[in-house]
Formats: sequence, C-alpha cells, structure tokens
Amino acid sequence: MTFQQVYGYEPSVRYSAPGRVNLIGEHTDYNDGYVLPFAIDRRTTASIAPRADRVIRVASAFDEAGGIVSLSLDELSPEAMDGWSAYVFGIAWALREQGSDLTGKTGFDVFIESDVPVGAGLSSSAAIECGVALAFNDLWELGLDRKTLARVGQYSENHAVGAPTGIMDQSASLLGERDAVVFLDCRTLDTAVVDLALEANGLEVLVIDTRVEHAHATGGYAARRASCEKGARVLGVEALRDVSIEDLPRAQELLDDETFRRVRHIVTEDQRVLDTVRTLREHGPRAIGSLLVASHESMRDDFEISVPELDLAVATAMEHGAVGARMTGGGFGGAAIALVDREARDAVAAAVTSAFAAAGFREPNTFTVRAAQGARRD
Ligand code: GLA
Repeated sequence: MTFQQVYGYEPSVRYSAPGRVNLIGEHTDYNDGYVLPFAIDRRTTASIAPRADRVIRVASAFDEAGGIVSLSLDELSPEAMDGWSAYVFGIAWALREQGSDLTGKTGFDVFIESDVPVGAGLSSSAAIECGVALAFNDLWELGLDRKTLARVGQYSENHAVGAPTGIMDQSASLLGERDAVVFLDCRTLDTAVVDLALEANGLEVLVIDTRVEHAHATGGYAARRASCEKGARVLGVEALRDVSIEDLPRAQELLDDETFRRVRHIVTEDQRVLDTVRTLREHGPRAIGSLLVASHESMRDDFEISVPELDLAVATAMEHGAVGARMTGGGFGGAAIALVDREARDAVAAAVTSAFAAAGFREPNTFTVRAAQGARRD
C-alpha cells in the first residue's frame, strides 16, 4: 500500500523519524537522570497532504486492506482514538493540550510506513510520534523547538496511548546525529552530542531482537516506575537523580530489600552513563565494554527487567568476543545490543542464533544498526 493507492492522489511532503537504541542509561529517564541513546538507521516515514477541512485521516502500509481512520480536530480526545492511529492523532491532541492553538487550522491525509521493527524495543512508536510532531509543527507553523516536540511526543505516549514512559525515546528520535550518541539530562533536557566513532574504530552495534514481546502500557514497567517513586519518597528526594552512590548505605537501612535494589540500579546506572560519556571522550568506544556489561547485570539482578533470552544473548555475545553487550530499552523482552568488531559480527550473530536453538528459544532476529540523523523533512 502507498499514499497514492489509499487516497488516490500524491502526497505533498514527507517527514521521517528514526527508532533508537539506548547505549546505556535504562529506566533513568523518568527518575530525572541521564541517558545515552542514539537514533538508528531505521525510520518511519509520514507522507502527508493538507486538507481543506479540519479532518485528519490516517492510513498505513501495515494495513494490507488500505483502511483509513479519521478524526476531526474538533473531536480530539484520548477516548476518541485507539489502536496505532493514536500515535498520530495523539500528537495533534498533545500539541493542543500543551498550549498550541489549533483554532482555524486544517487537517491532513497521513500515510505511515516504517522499517523500524515493531515490538523489538527500538521505539517504533516514538518514530511515528516524532515524525508526525515535526510535520505538524512545520505545517501548522507552531514554532516549537525539538525539545518541546519531544515533550509533546512523551505527553501523547503517556496520556493518549497510555504508557507511563519517560522522555528518552522521543529525544533520541528528534535529536540524534550520525555516528554519535545523545547525552541527555532528563531533568533539564540539556543535551550534548558525543562522538561514538564506531566506524573509525572498526566496530558495529549488533542488535539481537529476542522476539519476546513486551508492552509498556501494562505490568512490569509501571511497577518499576512505582518502586522508584516510592524509593524517592522514603528517601525524601524529588527524584532518584538526587541520590548518589555515597547515599546507598543509608538508603539500604531505610528501604525494604526490593525497593533498595530498584534504587541501587537507578543510582549506579546514572553513574555508569556519566562514566560512559567520559570514557567515550577520553578513550573511545572500545573502552566502554565493562560499563555495558555492568549495566546489564544491574538490570538482571537489581532491577529485574531482563528475561532468559536477553541474558543468553548477552552472555553468548561476550563469550564470542563482543567488546560489550546489554539489553536495551524497557526490558521484559525486546532486544539486546552487542558492540562487536566488524569482522566478528557474523560469528557473534551465528553463535547467539545457535545458543537460542540449543536453549529451545524462538530464533532471534539479528541485524546491525548505525547511529543516524534524527527526525527531518525529506
Ligand atoms: C522505554 C521507555 C523509555 C525508557 C526506557 C527504559 O523505552 O519508553 O522512556 O524509560 O523504556 O530506559
């Protein structure tokens, strides 16, 4: 399906936005902490044509039948949207909720295509949100900057889609740059772009999609977030960002064991992000392997968001010479990443695939990604 096949005419503009891989800094975003993601060379494209009335129509290449969902700008509300089209309508709603005046604005016909794998933990949803947010901001001449658009995307994800996620995915998708990571302070939204220099170092990032499904609107993700909020409350801080490694012994006295371990993950993970940034700047990507592995172990043992497939992927990659490896994203399934020598990439992928077969796991999907430019008008 194409825009032309669905709507019977050609679109006038195209915007695209990438998915993301998080190099390190997991579940730190909603604790006002630090993250270090990068935008990947897998993108979602929104082809768009303006309409004369106030209707937004949405269709996608995923829908073989060419189905169209429509909603008027006068009827925007979370209750009026469901399914994946909420990722598009939700942006218009969130723009308005966040203070943009849509009076007198007209709607669009929108067609979505994507090569960001869905359900792999690579933020296929943020890719739609960010491409659409950039497009609506331009076409409606709202004048919002990219950090504000990231907030709009997060607001839509939280309140229209209903997943209590942080600001990382949208920031990566909007602010990413080629061969670089986005160092983001999730409290201030201050960002710095840090060279990843993988190409120059002969390294690649191998993604191992376990194909174990995860959903952040339900279950474990929200429970982890609640534990973090409880920890902050008991420790008397605004967010876990305000707890340092030196505070941990006192935290252990005040918190129950489970909450303490959740807190310890966040506090040590924030420090690992800072250490990774410094190491990348001073010694380059070959030196960050042990930080990636320590991050994985902390998520496995303290935050308890890994699954056996992710642990096996990381262990096998390390046994076969990866520089570092860890699960990436929200956890409970999704993907792991391994930082590998270009020449070792196929051997590592093959080793993980056979280890999965031997363990009786579903065959993983393995592919490499590069750090790519963020959302843009194409
Ligand atoms: C998901 C959320 C992000 C972040 C990660 C965990 O990807 O969307 O906001 O919390 O999980 O780091």
